[in-house]
Amino acid sequence: MPERVRIFDTTLRDGEQTPGVSLTKEEKLTIARKLDEFGVDTIEAGFPVASEGEFEAVKAIAGEGLDAEVCGLARCVRRDIDAAVEAGVDCVHVFIATSDIHLKHKLEMSREEALERAVEGVEYAKEHGVTVEFSAEDATRTDPDFLLEVYKATVEAGADRINVPDTVGVMTPPRMYRLVRRIVDALDVPVSVHCHDDFGLAVANSLAAVEAGAEQAHVTVNGIGERAGNASLEQFVMALKALYGLDLDVRTEMLVELSRLVERLTGVVVPPNAPIVGENAFAHESGIHSHGVIKCAETYEPIRPEDVGHRRRIVLGKHAGRHAIKKKLEELGIEVDEEQLREIVRRVKELGDKGKRVTEEDLEAIARDVVGEVPESEAAVRLEELAVMTGNRVTPTSSVRVRLKGEERSAAATGVGPVDAALRALREAIEELGLDVELREYRLEAVTGGTDALAEVVVKLEDEEGNVVTARGASEDIVMASVRAFVSGVNRLVQRREEG
Ligand code: KIV
Ligand code: ZN
Repeated sequence: MPERVRIFDTTLRDGEQTPGVSLTKEEKLTIARKLDEFGVDTIEAGFPVASEGEFEAVKAIAGEGLDAEVCGLARCVRRDIDAAVEAGVDCVHVFIATSDIHLKHKLEMSREEALERAVEGVEYAKEHGVTVEFSAEDATRTDPDFLLEVYKATVEAGADRINVPDTVGVMTPPRMYRLVRRIVDALDVPVSVHCHDDFGLAVANSLAAVEAGAEQAHVTVNGIGERAGNASLEQFVMALKALYGLDLDVRTEMLVELSRLVERLTGVVVPPNAPIVGENAFAHESGIHSHGVIKCAETYEPIRPEDVGHRRRIVLGKHAGRHAIKKKLEELGIEVDEEQLREIVRRVKELGDKGKRVTEEDLEAIARDVVGEVPESEAAVRLEELAVMTGNRVTPTSSVRVRLKGEERSAAATGVGPVDAALRALREAIEELGLDVELREYRLEAVTGGTDALAEVVVKLEDEEGNVVTARGASEDIVMASVRAFVSGVNRLVQRREEG
């Protein structure tokens, strides 16, 4: 293992080769500044000969006075190298393909010609006083003996570093290890790797290369790049730090910020389950995991979210446990007793079973609803069942079944709408209570967006003695939320009358 590994970031070059991605000069500058602040060793700013705009962007980055080495890509062609040098880069990354498949079908060149062009390219770039990194494109599908011959010749021609691209991502970690080991042993300049992610092995292959002695790896933020992309900066850096214990001089706490910036400017969305920077990288849903993490984060987190600028989230859904819900309620400043907590957990799971992710606002609404309720054991009315039929060609009809002071009662009614029908049926079912309840106010609010949003209904009820109560009901079903609010209000009125 080398003592230090250089981070060569190619977000602005290979990353920009992601299908559909094109960055403006200003956007490239913004990313370059952030990469520099983060602490990468090299920023490959672009391919200067590609276009006027690309040249200007590389030139602007090279002129920024960044701490990082600024590099420009060039084929082993004089005008490419001239463009890079003219853009003012510190390093020119020259490359030529060396695999037979590329030589035959793309370059239509013999191995000897390619070798000659590689040497000429490196020599020409060196004449301009810049650092030169040489890449044998498609190195991992190149005959290894010829590959070594090319690398040795380019080092002799003055290359300061040589890079081993796994251009189509076909390596496996053991094969990468063996190849890089052989190259490292044969050369006396730093060896770098550039791994593509066609089989999802780019980071694993880069790490295997480091184990074999590679002193640098090419990476991109969020792993963007040609086809399936490149080795991801955030995964590679954190694996080196956390799994290999390597001391890198980078500000890992900026990783999420960097990732979000690149996501926003490139439009390439980071999947929620992306390692390190994905929205779910530190989210816990199952009761068992949440409980563990609440007690000791290390139980289910291999690194601390704050070390990469992320945050831990306890997600509530059907797998949520009472510990997670209790913790969340504490955070929201809502105090509950055991019975209330049990009811809140039941409702959260019920929503989860319906495929809904319970947001903080949902939980707050449920909790407010439950906390405001008369305890079940003391409630005069308990809703057992509610059914509603509605539509454009039927009269809204509802039937309810309740437990009234322990006795089962049911009733049915029609109304101008489903809520009206349900409340009429409910009033009939609780008639024996002898309450004359007036609905003074009815307010309906969607707690969160979407058609599956939790609805919160607030009702103000008044009885014939002038007692006024306000009660809430929350449910993803508006009728259910209305009935819950009404039942809760009635129970409070009964309680108030009994208390005198
Ligand atoms: O994937 C590749 O081979 C490259 C080279 C230009 C290094 O991006
Ligand atoms: Zn590449």
